[in-house]
Amino acid sequence: MKFFIDTANLQEIREAAAMGILDGVTTNPSLMAKEGKPNNKETIREICGVVGGPVSVEVVAIEPDAMIKEGEEYAGWDKHVVVKLPTTKAGVKACKALADKGIKVNMTLCFSPNQALLVAKAGATYVSPFIGRLDDISENGMDVIRNILTIYRNYNYQTQVLAASIRHPMHVVDAALAGAHVSTIPFKVLEMMFNHPLTDKGLAAFLKDYEKVRKG
Ligand code: E4P
Repeated sequence: MKFFIDTANLQEIREAAAMGILDGVTTNPSLMAKEGKPNNKETIREICGVVGGPVSVEVVAIEPDAMIKEGEEYAGWDKHVVVKLPTTKAGVKACKALADKGIKVNMTLCFSPNQALLVAKAGATYVSPFIGRLDDISENGMDVIRNILTIYRNYNYQTQVLAASIRHPMHVVDAALAGAHVSTIPFKVLEMMFNHPLTDKGLAAFLKDYEKVRKG
């Protein structure tokens, strides 16, 4: 499974990259706003330089032609940029046009297998089902991931399933068990994944025993 980090915070991206397990980054307008800046060439290129892998940059246009224009501009910023489009009728149309030009697209705000089927047919590189937001409204986000994976396998679609809107470490485990190709993980959740009380307890005992014999 590929690990992307779901943030536009450079410090978090640098820390995750330093862990040696980071494959990519996803941003969105809300995450950019949290950092106090809109999508801009300098920031995105800096992020691309740190991660050296796919970096999703979301368009804010809502009409197909404007989406295509904005997407082409972002794709020109760095070879690692993946254009992120909403899963709307306009977004699917723009996805098809960009994919035909060889530009990688991540279709975001996907909440159903039908939407995932449409974006696969339009040539999306990634589809991002939002697990947490489905769970929030008492729907089963992981079932949607599983169903999309089954449909993609049935027809050998190459679109990668990117589990998004992850809220806790079990979302990552369940997405991995389902066979999702990628998880985009908030930094806080990534840090939680390292933790196990038995690791801490075991390490403390090993170090204590080592100290006993070291001192003679
Ligand atoms: C994915 O690319 C989105 O940026 C993200 O996962 C949305 O997560 P949220 O529901 O926590 O905002």
